[in-house]
Amino acid sequence: MRVVKTINALREEITAVKRKQQSIGFVPTMGYLHEGHMSLIEEARRQHDIVVLSIFVNPLQFGPNEDLERYPRDFVRDENIAKELGVDLLFYPDTKEMYPADPSMTIHVTEGVNVLCGKSRPGHFDGVTTVVMKLFMLVQPDQAYFGQKDAQQVAIITNMVDMFNIPVEVIPCPTVREEDGLAKSSRNVYLTDEERQEAPLIYQVLTQARSLIKEGELSPNEIVQFVKKELNSLQHAEMDYVELLTYPKLMPVTEKDKTILLAVAYTFKHARLIDNIIVSKGE
Ligand code: PAF
Repeated sequence: MRVVKTINALREEITAVKRKQQSIGFVPTMGYLHEGHMSLIEEARRQHDIVVLSIFVNPLQFGPNEDLERYPRDFVRDENIAKELGVDLLFYPDTKEMYPADPSMTIHVTEGVNVLCGKSRPGHFDGVTTVVMKLFMLVQPDQAYFGQKDAQQVAIITNMVDMFNIPVEVIPCPTVREEDGLAKSSRNVYLTDEERQEAPLIYQVLTQARSLIKEGELSPNEIVQFVKKELNSLQHAEMDYVELLTYPKLMPVTEKDKTILLAVAYTFKHARLIDNIIVSKGE
């Protein structure tokens, strides 16, 4: 596995790969790899000649009161994991390399941002799309892999690719869970023992709600109220949102809509956890 830290070195590697007409599967991350990331790398490994992994904690997508400084980092561990999973090229730039000066231009997302995480994180998806656009331009992958756990991120990046006609296919991959159902996340390390014990309730309630959505007897509002009521028993967390939206458009649900996203965010003392399910009514 080659590790490159500069854009020039990355370009050289990519040029060589393209010359050999090898396909590229790309997994962009902010590091501190967990099994969710690993499943994305494994999928890319199955599908492509060359797997490129990027590790970059992108300041542009953090708000002023968010956890940029505290975001967990462990490059040596990540490097070993990447090697073991057969990554060919690891791009590990620092902030100066990606943003030599304050960006004079960013992507501004106007659709699908005033809901879910976008509502409480103004500018977050501008930061995500800006860095992903830069990474797509640099890595020029055939396919890029994202976890469905961040459903809004996947939807918005898919829209960005359509909007700017970027020749990259976005591949959503299923959420990887702990045995008790808790969605894997780098932020789970911040949970206290008590918080960790009650956190699996989130997915249990989403699973119950899945059955209710499929049965089709409750209105969207009743489903949302059901989830809020059940998750009210979380002793150590406060609700950020519970939303039912169409997927991937992220619009209010009507009778006709067949593919529905139920997404929640709850804030524990030092960790904000998100989770979601996508329900296809016809199935
Ligand atoms: O999902 C993430 O880790 C980040 O939002 C991403 C896509 C790597 C962009 O910084």
